[in-house]
Formats: sequence, C-alpha cells, structure tokens
Amino acid sequence: MKSDAKISVNLDGTPYPLYIGKDVIQRLPQYITDATKNKKVILIYDVFFENTVISILRKLLEQAGFDVLLHALQAGKGNKNINEALKVYSKLEEYNFARDSTLIALGGGVIGDMSGFIASTWLRGMNLVHIPTTLLAMVDSSVGGKTAINFRSTINGIGSYYHPILNLIDLNLVASLSERDYRSGLAEVIKCAIIHDKLFFDHLSQNKAKILSREPSYVTDFIERTIHIKIRHVQGDVKEGGKRLLLNYGHTLGHAIEISTVDKYGQEQLRHGEGVSIGIMAVAHIASRHLGIDSEIEYSLEKILKEYGLPVEVSSSLLGFDRDRLIRSCLDNVVKDKKRLDNKLRLILADSIGSADVYNDVPFSLIEETFNLIIKE
Ligand SMILES: NC(=O)c1ccc[n+]([C@@H]2O[C@H](COP(=O)([O-])OP(=O)(O)OC[C@H]3O[C@@H](n4cnc5c(N)ncnc54)[C@H](O)[C@@H]3O)[C@@H](O)[C@H]2O)c1
Repeated sequence: MKSDAKISVNLDGTPYPLYIGKDVIQRLPQYITDATKNKKVILIYDVFFENTVISILRKLLEQAGFDVLLHALQAGKGNKNINEALKVYSKLEEYNFARDSTLIALGGGVIGDMSGFIASTWLRGMNLVHIPTTLLAMVDSSVGGKTAINFRSTINGIGSYYHPILNLIDLNLVASLSERDYRSGLAEVIKCAIIHDKLFFDHLSQNKAKILSREPSYVTDFIERTIHIKIRHVQGDVKEGGKRLLLNYGHTLGHAIEISTVDKYGQEQLRHGEGVSIGIMAVAHIASRHLGIDSEIEYSLEKILKEYGLPVEVSSSLLGFDRDRLIRSCLDNVVKDKKRLDNKLRLILADSIGSADVYNDVPFSLIEETFNLIIKE
C-alpha cells in the first residue's frame, strides 16, 4: 500500500492517526480495517459529492467486505440542526448500528460538526471517521474534537467534545472548492500564523500567488503547518481553559457579525472564515488602542487579508441591513456571549505577529467604537 504522510494525534489520551496526501481516500477501507473489526459503516456526505467521490468510495468499501449505508446532507449552516440529525438517528436505529460500527463524515464543517455530534451521542459514542472536504474543515473543524448542531438562534448550541478514530485529508478535494470557500479556509490558516508563528506569517505573505493558485506542494505545506499549530493549542486543553482559547483569535467579534447578518430565511450570509477575517481586523484595531502597540501590525494584518481576497469590513446595505441596527445587534450578541462566560468579556489580542494572549479588561466602549469603524453603510 502507498504510504501517506501521517500525523499522530493525541489530544486527551485517545490517540488516532491523521493521514494527508493525494488519493488518501482510496485507502479508506484499509485504514478502517486497521482501526476496527466491525464492517458496518454509515457514510454521511455532502450531496455535492453524490455522483463522484461517493460512488467510488461505496464501491471500494463494498469490495473490501463492508456493509455500507449512505446518507446525503445539504451543506450550509442552516442545515446543521436537530431535524437533520434525527433522520440519521432513525437510520442508525433501523439498521442496528453498534458502538463499534463506524460513522464516516465526508464534507465541510457543517457535515463534520453534525456527524461528529451524532457519532458522539449514538449509544453514547460510536466510531467516527472524518474526511474533511473544505479547507476550513481540513485545517480547523475536523481537528480538536468540537462537534455541534445549531439550536434556534444559538450557533453550536448543542454539542460535545469527541474525537474520531481516523482523519483522512485528501488533497485532491481542494481542487473543486470554490474560490470563496478556499479563501474562507485560508482565514483560519492566517489566524494560526498570527497567534503563533511569525515565520509562517511571512511565508504566507511572500507566497500568496502560489498559495492562491493552489500549487500542491504549497497547499500540503500550509495545511500541515496549520494542523500542527491547532494540535499544539488543543493538546491537554481540549475543553478550552487555557491555550486553546488563543485559537478563538478573531472569533468573538467575527462570530457576532456572522450571526447578526443571518438573512430572513435563517441562512448566514458570511462564510465562517469571512467572519473570522473581519473579526481579526476588529481585534487588530482593539489591540492598537488597548495595548498601545505599533499600528504597523494592524496595517500588516489588513494587507495580508486583503491580498488573500478576504473581507476586512462589513457593508450593511449590501447584506440588506440598516447600519445602526446591525451595530446594535452585533453588540447584543457580544453581550450574550459575555453572559455565557461568567460575565467576562474575553478577547484574544495579538501584541505582535506570532504572539497572542487572553485579555479580560477590554472596555465595552472600545468594542462599540470598533464595530462603528468596521461596519460601513
Ligand atoms: N468544530 C470546529 O472546531 C469548527 C471550527 C470552525 C468552524 N466550524 C463550523 O464549520 C462550519 C462551516 O464549515 P464550512 O465552511 O466547511 O461549510 P460547509 O460545510 O457548509 O461547506 C461550504 C461549501 O463548500 C461546499 N464543498 C464542500 N467540500 C467541497 C469541495 N471539496 N469542493 C467543492 N465544494 C465543496 C459545500 O457543499 C458548501 O457549499 C460552521 O458550521 C462552523 O460553525 C466548526
């Protein structure tokens, strides 16, 4: 068998392998066989792959003696909900899935988060395999064990921490990603560089043409580097009491903007990475004002985000919102978040590129000022 690059992940005492390379998914049957004896699998997949990857995987699994059940899901954050999850539970019951049967999640963060949640709760936990298909899922959501569904207006309201037995990152899947989804994933890559690795940040700044054109060796390199940064921050702190918090850089305010701009049909208009990108710009401004650091840093962050085609501000009218109302809604969402966190408003600020810390003392007036700055007419 061809050997794929392997990262051994051990975040809280449950080790598993993460394989990365081209055609990795061709070796899915062998990798599952290495991990469990049970031959029953349910493959939950993004409907986008219906007639391509899924037909191939089904055939490969069946040839290797697996009993395969398929379940298609529509991606998009509006579909990460309990009703969709209930349909899967019904199938798991009807077809007698056991704890050592395997649930394979093939898709972006929406499919991965929801499938992970289902696997963690079915019989209090069945085998889970992640096959992330968006860049965001490869470098972020499939690693670290967070699983969730949205509940009413609460994003990721119901969830758990649950690790897979296997994670397969197939670089072939990057090619078909839309420009928007590829760039959205890059926001998490840039975030990891900002909080941890100045050299990586410089590499991203200097090689944007190769990265944006998805040159394979560059893609492999930045995915591996980002995953290592993620693992380093999650290891020993899965439940986010210390260093994992730093991964939330750009998320608190970005998240508030992401949920405040949901349209009247309940669909979010910003990709997760786009929210993070705007959130990074927001905390860069706050860091300049609150920590009194050189505004050169704020400028460098704005430059790299713009060069990667990521948003650094919000146009309220373009998204169909009245500006003042949108600012108020963002502030309300920040306050809601604060209430959930022991009434603390925790922000991650970078004091230089490659280094970040947690701050509990950012005045609310500065957040208000920042939303006023980045939310345009
Ligand atoms: N668990 C975590 O730690 C974590 C971290 C970050 C984000 N998230 C969650 O991730 C979700 C967002 O994930 P996402 O951005 O991957 O969204 P997504 O799963 O909705 O995918 C985005 C789009 O990409 C398409 N797509 C997927 N793979 C493709 C491919 N290879 N080629 C072409 N198109 C493809 C999908 O059909 C969809 O239209 C949010 O719900 C967010 O809360 C979770």
